[in-house]
Amino acid sequence: MRTIGVLTSGGDAPGMNAAVRAVVRGAISLDMRVYGIEDGYDGLLKGNMREMDVKSVSDVLQRGGTFLRTARCMEMMTEEGVKRAIDKASLFDLDGLVVIGGDGSFNGALALSKQGLRTACVPATIDNDLAYTDWTIGFDTAVNTCVNAINLIRDTSASHGRITVIEVMGRHCGDIALAAGVAGGAAYVFIPEVEPNLDLLMKRLDRGRARGKRHNIIIRAEGARIGTDELVNMIANHTQGEVRKVVLGYLQRGGTPTANDRIIASKMGFRAVEILAGEGNARAVGMHGVEVFDMDLAEALNMARIVDTEEIRLMETLAI
Ligand code: F6P
Repeated sequence: MRTIGVLTSGGDAPGMNAAVRAVVRGAISLDMRVYGIEDGYDGLLKGNMREMDVKSVSDVLQRGGTFLRTARCMEMMTEEGVKRAIDKASLFDLDGLVVIGGDGSFNGALALSKQGLRTACVPATIDNDLAYTDWTIGFDTAVNTCVNAINLIRDTSASHGRITVIEVMGRHCGDIALAAGVAGGAAYVFIPEVEPNLDLLMKRLDRGRARGKRHNIIIRAEGARIGTDELVNMIANHTQGEVRKVVLGYLQRGGTPTANDRIIASKMGFRAVEILAGEGNARAVGMHGVEVFDMDLAEALNMARIVDTEEIRLMETLAI
């Protein structure tokens, strides 16, 4: 009987539990044994793993975070660390490993696959910054969290006639900011991929004020090329009005996953199991629209992100 392991790694993301649930129940349905590994690669290195059964993943689908817990494991970036992980995996007779995480976790899986432990990777990060897949698990939930926050902030900004700059996560990727900006009706979105155009922002604020618009929401991705405080000061100086800032921070990493995140997590988790049930190795599972697919892991990691210029143009057009 084949035995596989599953771990969650890197920044946690809502929907990771749904993916683990699909891996565990999918593996059992294919007559495989499956170990849940705690604390990401740290747990693999320490042998912190326990055999899962159907009940192990009861009542987790709707929970945010990851019940296996996660960690950012620097040791897995070293040859020594990879070797220790391989030794530990063989101690538990692991024939394969499902890694649920982001790009750093995928690189760890690639190293393991080259040392003889077959791996299948499931993209889970709120950043949506893996170029090969349309969606990463957690992104949809994080965007909804941001939009709900924008709705709340818009109320008080309108009451006081204020401009509020809202900083969102995403590391070096602007997808959360752009999606939240379009869905939340922002006047401007600053993302890492595009040079800030402050003249355009000020013109837009002036035009809005001229037609009586007294409050505005501006979204800034944390990796944008202008800082939040700098932006607040520049807008306050230009408009002579009240400007506030809100940094959403770790709110974006929690919460019950949306139906969409649960669905893509279930589809991709099960595909990862099917890969390991066969002879597959070093595969990256992804979504093209609503269709699940898998491809070579190294190729997936080498793909360059393409900025969604269509969505940027839509944002510009609707924010006049
Ligand atoms: O990668 C997900 C993410 O939430 C980023 O958007 C953010 O910049 C980073 O993790 C924060 O890292 P940590 O959880 O280690 O503070």
